[in-house]
Amino acid sequence: MYHNLDLDHIDLTQEPPKEEPARQCYFMAKAKKQVSAMCEAAGRPMTFHVETFGCQMNARDSEKLTGILTAVGYVPSGTETADFVIYNTCTVRENANRKVYGRLGKLKRLKEENPYMRIALCGCMMQESHVVEKLRDSYGFVDLVFGTHNIYQFAQLFCQALESDAMVVEIWKDTDRIVEDLPAQRKYPFKSGVNIMFGCNNFCSYCIVPYVRGRERSRSPQAILEEIRKLVEDGVVEVMLLGQNVNSYGKTLDQPISFAKLLSQAAEIPGLERIRFMTSHPKDLSDELIQVMASSDKICRHLHLPVQSGSTRILDKMNRRYTKESYLDLAARIKKAIPDIALTTDIIVGFPGETEEDFQDTLDVVRKVRYSSAFTFQYSKRSGTPAAAMEEQISAEVVQDRFDRLLTLVQDIAREECAVWEGTTGKALVEQVNHQDESLLTGRLGNNLLVHFPGERSLIGKIVDVHLTECKGFYYMGEMIEWLYHQ
Ligand code: SAH
Ligand code: SF4
Ligand code: F3S
Repeated sequence: MYHNLDLDHIDLTQEPPKEEPARQCYFMAKAKKQVSAMCEAAGRPMTFHVETFGCQMNARDSEKLTGILTAVGYVPSGTETADFVIYNTCTVRENANRKVYGRLGKLKRLKEENPYMRIALCGCMMQESHVVEKLRDSYGFVDLVFGTHNIYQFAQLFCQALESDAMVVEIWKDTDRIVEDLPAQRKYPFKSGVNIMFGCNNFCSYCIVPYVRGRERSRSPQAILEEIRKLVEDGVVEVMLLGQNVNSYGKTLDQPISFAKLLSQAAEIPGLERIRFMTSHPKDLSDELIQVMASSDKICRHLHLPVQSGSTRILDKMNRRYTKESYLDLAARIKKAIPDIALTTDIIVGFPGETEEDFQDTLDVVRKVRYSSAFTFQYSKRSGTPAAAMEEQISAEVVQDRFDRLLTLVQDIAREECAVWEGTTGKALVEQVNHQDESLLTGRLGNNLLVHFPGERSLIGKIVDVHLTECKGFYYMGEMIEWLYHQ
């Protein structure tokens, strides 16, 4: 949502500039002309739909795609019956992958009925060569395929696709570039993700992310803080700093800086009310970070600290570089320094070689840490990762049984952890009108719990004090005390 983008004064009779982001602005101007011609020919606006399949970083990328599509004159359709449909894919688990192929079949039929329709695919799945081969062989109706490293070239690739009858495919193996300052259109006007780093160097043995997102690259603190300032000027009150392992932020910069320092500098930005961040790798979480979190009330009382397994033996095979004991010690130190913190986690069951005893260690960690919520996953074999070649893959029945037992425990504890706030008052950022009951608003507390309460829709985007009247399992019904922040 940068308002200073002036595409109408770019001279398209000249050659496109070589430097970025000026080059992409040139192609946006070119695309805008083409889209406007299509609107005229069709006698109606051209519509688009961006579908996100992956994590917060994937979602932030989708906002960038949306920003460019909006800048070139497309309007959102809200459905896949649109003139430009783009899937921003994820490949972290096999089922994310399968979903994409299933839905492409439906898009093919829609395209047969709409001469203006174009289909594009991007994101992590496109970084896998077998996926691109399959698309070329069996999904020839797709117009454009690009990957994670060159997403900033979207405008240029879009122009190429409009001019080509064949599928345009542009995938890079890796990159060390970060292109700043392209438009992004936020899903919510009042909150935003902010990338602080890209890629991952950890190579957990089950995980495909380092292969599809490339090496770790940190943005400069100046660029990050400037982006947050601009977002605040544009109405944002909450940011989420995003990276696969935010705790290793800044280590490879020319002038190294710790994540904790970046966080405390961000907390000083006037007008910014709340900061969240995701994800923290336990091996790199510093005492400095715990102190910064404890000393700033702008930093939300929520820490996502993926444990993956409670067994030191499995953690070693996963290449996580911490033990059950060091993880429990870390969780205890965090809780001691910040008693009202909500800890959440990710857990994988059925990693190759996981025994019942290993699994019991995972249950033990869940009982000891008492997570406010946990994402539980069945291990999914990703080709090319070290774990895929490990012997002793676990049978589907055993995985399902462990998964069910884990989920029951996680949910029982999450319910109890949620209930401890009953009768207290918390600050909630009002996010939307309640989906089921229009007289209610839905707000998010600093600890990430949702609360529903009566109120006017004009409060959306404001932070209000809410009395947490009744715990309903994983969320609250509440009553607003007063609203605190005016525009
Ligand atoms: N960078 C983050 C995680 C990103 S992927 C971190 O290190 O915490 C999100 C989650 O997906 C992971 O935490 C893990 O629990 C899960 N995941 C990743 N690869 C997986 C696989 N092969 N099978 C099942 N779950 C997986
Ligand atoms: Fe994957 Fe591990 Fe990197 Fe997270 S830290 S993205 S789980 S390799
Ligand atoms: Fe998926 Fe890529 Fe995120 S694989 S989890 S979208 S980094």
